[in-house]
Amino acid sequence: MSHQHLVTCSTRNGTLEITVSDNETLMHQLQFFLPIASSCHGEGVCTKCKIKILWGGDSLSPLTELELKARQNHLIGETERLSCQTFAHGPTHITTTYW
Ligand code: FES
Repeated sequence: MSHQHLVTCSTRNGTLEITVSDNETLMHQLQFFLPIASSCHGEGVCTKCKIKILWGGDSLSPLTELELKARQNHLIGETERLSCQTFAHGPTHITTTYW
């Protein structure tokens, strides 16, 4: 059974609240409302889909192997996640550099 959670997205034009399900990645669900950069189509290797977590990082699924690798290689920072690898299990607040 899936659960719904609220993701608050900060953009240049204000905040957008999007209800997501915990059984699909953030990228898969957010892309219907806001652009998500990507060149690997969610394979977890391009790192373009990264999002910045403003709060609620504890609500997100654990880092995947691909994210750990990206972090070790300094491609994503301590407060960033790959949206194609991440599931929300509670409320969170995020942004990107281009929203
Ligand atoms: S879409 Fe390429 S790493 Fe997420």
